[in-house]
Amino acid sequence: APKPIIAPSILASDFGNLAHECSRIIKSEGADWLHIDIMDGHFVPNITIGAPVVTCIRRSVDRSEDWAKGVFDCHMMVAEPQKWLQDFKDAGCDLYCFHHEAAEISKDPKTPSAELIENIHALGLKAGVAIKPGTPPDMVLVMTVEPGFGGQKFRPECMPKVEALRKRYPELDIEVDGGLGLGTIDLAAEAGANVIVAGTAVFGAQSPKEVIAKLRETVQR
Ligand code: DX5
Ligand code: ZN
Repeated sequence: APKPIIAPSILASDFGNLAHECSRIIKSEGADWLHIDIMDGHFVPNITIGAPVVTCIRRSVDRSEDWAKGVFDCHMMVAEPQKWLQDFKDAGCDLYCFHHEAAEISKDPKTPSAELIENIHALGLKAGVAIKPGTPPDMVLVMTVEPGFGGQKFRPECMPKVEALRKRYPELDIEVDGGLGLGTIDLAAEAGANVIVAGTAVFGAQSPKEVIAKLRETVQR
């Protein structure tokens, strides 16, 4: 399976010190990617940040050339993913992960998932999306909570989906998001997830470094 990637969700960080929180978690605490939750109040009942804030964070976090560190993994919980693509590219997003459900329902413009993936690649970004054989993205994000809020309880009933994906796509980056931490990582790792988003578990820890190292270790075995 692909290498473990620990992607702290900045939703659980101190938004008042966002740039510092982001650079610290990557540079000093050993995280790989930064998971940036974008919510528009339509696709989910909550609002977070947009491209202008991502631009500011980018100034304090460099990405490595080998795609191993500092990747901005933008989780687009928005009703019209196509609409924000260029803005996020300009802001320094690396991986544009949209919800299949949103791409299919958005009418303005109506952009099916396959076309959106093409548009993402055309801008030189990696595409992440929820499933569909035939148009394999670079990463699949399997939500393990109902999207919209951090700090919810992990839902183990989502693991068969991860297992099935891993069976079919041995090399795919499979990301899990929601309620991941030391108590739930075993189930996710066992099912075959390798990109681990953790908000509360990382930013709420006494030692984020220890938590990140343990998460990585569990995925590696
Ligand atoms: C929820 C977000 C998650 C969230 C995870 O809609 O997509 O990224 O921040 O937070 P924890 O790890 O606290 O469940
Ligand atoms: Zn997320």
